[in-house]
Amino acid sequence: MTAKASGTFTLGGDLTINRMGFGAMRITGKGIWGEPADHAEALRVLQRLPALDVNFIDTADAYGPDVSEDLICEALHPYDGLIIATKGGHTRQGPDRWTPVGRPEYLRQAVLMSMRRLKLERIDLWQLHRIDQYTDRDVQFAAIAQMQREGLIRHVGLSEVTVEEIQAAQKHFPVASVQNMYNMTQRQSEPVLDYCEQHNIGFIPWRPVGGGGIGGESRALQEVATRLGATPLQVSLAWLLKRSPVMIPIPGTSTVKHLEENVAAADLELSDEDFRLLDGAAAHA
Ligand SMILES: NC(=O)c1ccc[n+]([C@@H]2O[C@H](COP(=O)([O-])OP(=O)(O)OC[C@H]3O[C@@H](n4cnc5c(N)ncnc54)[C@H](OP(=O)(O)O)[C@@H]3O)[C@@H](O)[C@H]2O)c1
Repeated sequence: MTAKASGTFTLGGDLTINRMGFGAMRITGKGIWGEPADHAEALRVLQRLPALDVNFIDTADAYGPDVSEDLICEALHPYDGLIIATKGGHTRQGPDRWTPVGRPEYLRQAVLMSMRRLKLERIDLWQLHRIDQYTDRDVQFAAIAQMQREGLIRHVGLSEVTVEEIQAAQKHFPVASVQNMYNMTQRQSEPVLDYCEQHNIGFIPWRPVGGGGIGGESRALQEVATRLGATPLQVSLAWLLKRSPVMIPIPGTSTVKHLEENVAAADLELSDEDFRLLDGAAAHA
């Protein structure tokens, strides 16, 4: 069981990762607010990642807030071969409440504070969590480009964006990754995924297993899973990996058991026939 089986993707032309990553949002409290229910298990989840060859971890300053980044540092610093991708630009007002703030001075604070919490001198992949619609987007992009020039950020990613927004950002900096909601049954971001594939931009689907409930009603998914001796959730991850070479799934979990189950999906080989069957079934779900 190893994430190596998922193949690799090279972010920004120089950062090679195994494609099956880990999303560190679920190691926080309910509503992505506060401490996790089981601190020790959260640390165990993180500390299990290197042995499974998961070397790409996605987090954000807003997860907790601060909690996810603090736990990552506690469990894994100095990271030895791990790429920690974080995000900024989302503020929190309580459980499940999120508000984008993209003023340049706030984005700079977000980057500097993530560097402090993660104990990093440069962030390998810093993603703008959301474009703030109340601040000129070019002002936000220019502030990020400036931080990249200063060496605070190695590569820049975007989150929840359209193709037009990616192109607007590309006037300021190379876009290394895009993180949009996407899974086998929620495919609104197909045009963005296609654009990423054409431009060799890493596409990081968030909610890759539908929040744990993927394909509950899909008979095709159940059938393929039974035939392959896998769970529907594992098959949905294998489907993502086969969908595009730029796909970097980051399933999130708070337990070692689910983590191992998810990483094991990297070993699943979907035939072209099964891929098309699931594709068609999901499109009509
Ligand atoms: N850019 C953005 O705006 C954005 C938004 C949301 C998320 N994200 C990122 O994307 C990552 C993934 O998104 P997500 O957590 O919302 O969705 P997800 O990965 O599709 O689903 C996570 C949920 O599924 C459950 N789960 C995971 N593996 C399972 C398994 N093998 N069996 C049964 N249940 C399982 C987890 O519960 P257990 O803890 O019980 O395993 C958790 O509640 C996050 O960690 C975060 O890094 C980004």
